[in-house]
Amino acid sequence: MGSNQTEAPTRQRTSPNPGSRSEKPAQQRRSKGQDWTAWPIYDASYTGLRGYWYPLELSHKVTDKPQQYSLCGEKLLLIRDQGVVRGLADRCPHRGVPLSQGDQQFPGTVTCAYHGWTFDLESGKLNAVLTDGPDSPICGRITQKTHPVEERHGIVWVYMGDGEEPHPLDDQLPEEWRDGSFVLGMRFQDRVGDWRFAVENGFDEGHAKYLHRTALWRLFRTMPTWNITEIQQRGRWLYRVQKEVHFKDEHPGVGTWTNYRWWKKKPPEKVFNIGNVGDLGKAINPVIDKQAFPGFTSVAMPGFLRVVYPDFIHYETWVPTAPGEHRYVGIMIQFRKGIKTLPFYAKYLGAIRWLFHGQFTGQDEWMVGETDAPPERLYRPDSSLTSWRRLVEDTTKVHEAERAEKPRRQIYDQ
Ligand code: FES
Ligand SMILES: [Fe+2]
Repeated sequence: MGSNQTEAPTRQRTSPNPGSRSEKPAQQRRSKGQDWTAWPIYDASYTGLRGYWYPLELSHKVTDKPQQYSLCGEKLLLIRDQGVVRGLADRCPHRGVPLSQGDQQFPGTVTCAYHGWTFDLESGKLNAVLTDGPDSPICGRITQKTHPVEERHGIVWVYMGDGEEPHPLDDQLPEEWRDGSFVLGMRFQDRVGDWRFAVENGFDEGHAKYLHRTALWRLFRTMPTWNITEIQQRGRWLYRVQKEVHFKDEHPGVGTWTNYRWWKKKPPEKVFNIGNVGDLGKAINPVIDKQAFPGFTSVAMPGFLRVVYPDFIHYETWVPTAPGEHRYVGIMIQFRKGIKTLPFYAKYLGAIRWLFHGQFTGQDEWMVGETDAPPERLYRPDSSLTSWRRLVEDTTKVHEAERAEKPRRQIYDQ
């Protein structure tokens, strides 16, 4: 099943890269510790991290009519040819018209709308020029950049690289996805905001307790007020592990603060590491249980978030499209088979899609669109943000060295 919504971003971005060091006037950058000089790779990655697979579109949306997408600041087209989805750079080398304005004149190819240059979708080779005859001398001398594409779980995944062989998509997917059958509901939506602010918001320890206290999704559940959290790394995932969870506090000279209301379920008394409101005592799905996640929120490169509840897992990722914009991808999964999947569909379409992937994450969209950093003054819960940035720094150094060693799958013309 795939349900989705694809909308144009609603706010105009004011800068091509609102988070970038280079875009900020020097006087705004202030002293060390308030800018991003501690994370130079991250600071420079406003167009996205290269050498990864990204979930760009729902499978059923890709047809034999080419469509344009943006990924890591590059334009590409997706087209379904004889059942297989292909990705090609979306700029005709002749005069720069988007190839996605063209169509398919022959199987296995796409033809530019302007002068009929015809490219092989698999190799990118210019294999016919319809307005220059069958002996056109330019034929075979131009290669258009192609992008590796895989379809998995109803999603079209595109590898954004530089002509090297990609790593297997499975290396990037959550390990529990390999464990058997599941059902999923999805929402794809174009949003305004730097992709890095969106990932940081996803793994941010502090905000959910305050920003989302008014979300309808949490109408009957009490959110904590503050936590003591430790960041732990296990394999390629960083986890937020709760050491203390607080629900009511007396702030000196200010007053008492709590998210508890008489109509909400009473908060649990013990520290919990599954679900963000504490679901102690609830039966845990066996596939989820088997993973023994140390914490309910985890993040992996290149910004894939996992939030674990007893009976389902919610995933989010923020695909870097153009500077200052991203594509939100929300995926809700329940590890069930056969007839037991039916209640999931009803629950997803009837509630989760609107309350959670809609209104709840809409609050995140609002804040990500408003974030303006650096400069910034971080506080104790932001160890979640800084550990994620550190992961990007450390992983990218190794990843780039490995990419440089990879065999070439294509040498393309620039
Ligand atoms: S611009 Fe594409 S064929 Fe001329
Ligand atoms: Fe949030």
